[in-house]
Amino acid sequence: MSEKIFNPNPEFAKDAKINSMEQYWELQNRAIEDYEGFWKDFADEKIDWIEPYDNVLDESNAPFYKWFSNGKLNVSNQCIDRHLADKAEQNAIVFEGDKGDVQHITYGQLSERVNELSNLLKNKFGVKKGDRVVLYMPMIPEAAYAMLACTRIGAIHSIVFGGFSSEALRDRIEDAEAKIVITADGAFRKGKPYMLKNVVDDALDAGGDSIEAVLVVKRNNEEIKWVEGRDHSYNELIEAESTECPFEPMESEDPLFLLYTSGSTGKPKGVQHATAGYILWAQMTMEWVFDLRKDDVYWCTADIGWITGHTYIVYGPLAAGGTTVMFEGVPTYPDAGRAWKMVQDHNVTQFYTAPTAIRLLHKTGEDEPKKYDLSKLRVLGTVGEPIDPPAWKWYYEVVGNSKCAIVDTYWQTETGGHMISPLPGATPIKPACATFALPGIITEIIEEDGTPTPIGEKGFMCITRPWPSMIRTIWNDPNRFVKSYFGDCKKDGEAVYFTGDGAMIDEDGYITITGRTDDVINVSGHRMGTAEVEAAIKKHDSVAAVAVVGKPHEIKGEGIFAYIVLKDPSEASEDLKIAINKVIKKEIGAIALCDAMVFVPDVPKTRSGKIMRRILRSLAKGEEITQDTSTLEDPSIVEVIEKIVKEG
Ligand code: WT7
Repeated sequence: MSEKIFNPNPEFAKDAKINSMEQYWELQNRAIEDYEGFWKDFADEKIDWIEPYDNVLDESNAPFYKWFSNGKLNVSNQCIDRHLADKAEQNAIVFEGDKGDVQHITYGQLSERVNELSNLLKNKFGVKKGDRVVLYMPMIPEAAYAMLACTRIGAIHSIVFGGFSSEALRDRIEDAEAKIVITADGAFRKGKPYMLKNVVDDALDAGGDSIEAVLVVKRNNEEIKWVEGRDHSYNELIEAESTECPFEPMESEDPLFLLYTSGSTGKPKGVQHATAGYILWAQMTMEWVFDLRKDDVYWCTADIGWITGHTYIVYGPLAAGGTTVMFEGVPTYPDAGRAWKMVQDHNVTQFYTAPTAIRLLHKTGEDEPKKYDLSKLRVLGTVGEPIDPPAWKWYYEVVGNSKCAIVDTYWQTETGGHMISPLPGATPIKPACATFALPGIITEIIEEDGTPTPIGEKGFMCITRPWPSMIRTIWNDPNRFVKSYFGDCKKDGEAVYFTGDGAMIDEDGYITITGRTDDVINVSGHRMGTAEVEAAIKKHDSVAAVAVVGKPHEIKGEGIFAYIVLKDPSEASEDLKIAINKVIKKEIGAIALCDAMVFVPDVPKTRSGKIMRRILRSLAKGEEITQDTSTLEDPSIVEVIEKIVKEG
């Protein structure tokens, strides 16, 4: 790649919150020299404490770190109440529906909606502090109200992405032993209604016995099944509730929410975030990375079912007192100019999306951005996967008119907020490079034993000091938490957090993320565990064995490629592939569908029975096999599979 460096726009840098690398280093050196002092200053400045904390960082039970112990606060206060004095009339949320219907929700109105829903959950359904509430919601304002209402009364929400199947939903309900599900009849997508409530019905028909009630928001007005006694109408019940509900004082370390994500083995894990540290970093990164200001209109295109939607549609922008856009539809409907039309119509100043979406918008509407007035844009962001240089260039030149910084934000569900990212007014940017750790975040690229990986070589991307917004544990499975994140890398003999990603540092100290080092596939910026997809495929009666790997995909970044061994090889057919994909859709959801399947007589395994996915990845890409195959139980299988893949 060209080593051209893009310096911050001087016009922008003038008033930016962090406006030079000197200022960046001042902050970062302060953190290095006095870590707790650094965090204390920001916690004191940013958080509206109800009761002060007594300890910045408690490392006595590592890696179960505690931040701001015994402090009391409430996230819905941090995001709403404390802004009401001067922002009651300011838009908190700008909602645009699939069909172009728009709602402006001021902080004053947001407060009323959240308070009445808090009352409803508390009074009618007996939801208490610590109870789990599952949200299976479309991208409508009520989803944000529900999140904030949970935080107000101290309930722990667990949002399940609306694209997950009933089986996936049921698993998550059961693992969290949730008390109530909040959903909607459905919503609109590409001009047509789609349904969600029926998925909840199916999930609960098959289990989910902890659920006492289903609260249903009306959105698309389609007819739905109604289970008397279990199902309740949000729209009817909310009328009776008061718009005042005092917020519950929460302890800093009280769980704020769970969000399930895939690992390389086993079932999805319930990543548990804590209250104070999470909201502090959500707010700080909103201010630093997006340089959010008073009159900004900020739009993140993620779905609230993912961590990006949690931190950078709801919690971060609202904690920072900003205006956040929520969009129900897809950016390419009714045409490839939809996203740019929305940027124009709402005067969007910061736009944050995934490389997958950028590639799609580039491919389907290269010149579309030029048809709209995008002149208010100041910062463009990307997240979820490495961005390729051609997509970066188009985003920078055509969308940003060569004047907006692109912040390539590297982070994870587990990190709660951004870890490595350019600062738009400070960092000279190398395209498609996440650049530097944010102030306060201590990252190192190391070998398993902690020795620094040499410049220009791939090493393990570790975060070697605990940080406030980090995962606290895996719900109900503390051992898996320790094993998953603190089991691989050590520094000075102590376990450090390993992200699961590889990374490289260059001679200027710039960090480039090179992708997962484990058996996790990144499909459209979303994590899919190979083990989960394989378990789903195995549910098909004809399948004897299976191995899935990621294969580079023009739009999605990676697609899923499956090698399937049939019980009866004569059954192999295109229809069987379709039938297997149906099982995946039922078990996980459409996001896990395979892009390609091949039927093979066997998969390459070591003598101890471990699938050699490295070889399968190379074969899927059509690469020559250079790896050593002598440790395989049956080395000849490689050539056989190679031939099958080549023949398609
Ligand atoms: C994984 C985390 C973070 C919210 C969306 C995904 C990959 C994330 C980048 C980036 C290269 C990235 C990593 C990471 N990733 N951002 N800017 N450049 N890779 O959250 O589902 O928890 O996935 O996404 O592999 O580990 P997630």
